[in-house]
Amino acid sequence: MCGDFTFVCFCFPFLAGYDIPKGTVLTTNISQIHKDPTMWDDPETFKPERFLDDAGKFVTHPGWLPFSAGKRGCVGEVVAKSNLFLSMVALFQRFSFHPDPSSEKLEGACDKAYMPMQMLPKPFKIIPISR
Ligand code: HEM
Repeated sequence: MCGDFTFVCFCFPFLAGYDIPKGTVLTTNISQIHKDPTMWDDPETFKPERFLDDAGKFVTHPGWLPFSAGKRGCVGEVVAKSNLFLSMVALFQRFSFHPDPSSEKLEGACDKAYMPMQMLPKPFKIIPISR
């Protein structure tokens, strides 16, 4: 993920009803975008099936914006998505992944910010088994 999510306000005197003094550093809260209850049903719960239709086919969601949006959205989105797709497919074609019984349960592992600016899962162990 890109490290720099900040912009300096040069010209907007106000935004969304707030006065923003010139020079203010603005930061996009991507994590909160994905917890907006007006966009997401049960936003705190991990539900990958949100992205499947009744036939089990992938569907996207208008509230899903990990690469942000608009003119300052991620210019690397296509590169990032194709790299993630290729590397994940390569791994899942060769291995199945299982939780390590000695490791902490994964449930709720992401519910606290583990780093100040990024929402990351806590470290956990998995056991890859060759297919
Ligand atoms: C999973 C991987 C990635 C994620 C989730 C991601 C996410 C983002 C997000 C959310 C922003 C906008 C930040 C904001 O609105 O303040 C951004 C900006 C940007 N990203 Fe990425 N990014 C990823 C990979 C990449 C890659 C691979 C590249 C380069 C090849 C890249 C280059 C950039 C650049 C240059 C910007 C700044 C665009 C601008 O300000 O006009 N990103 N990224």
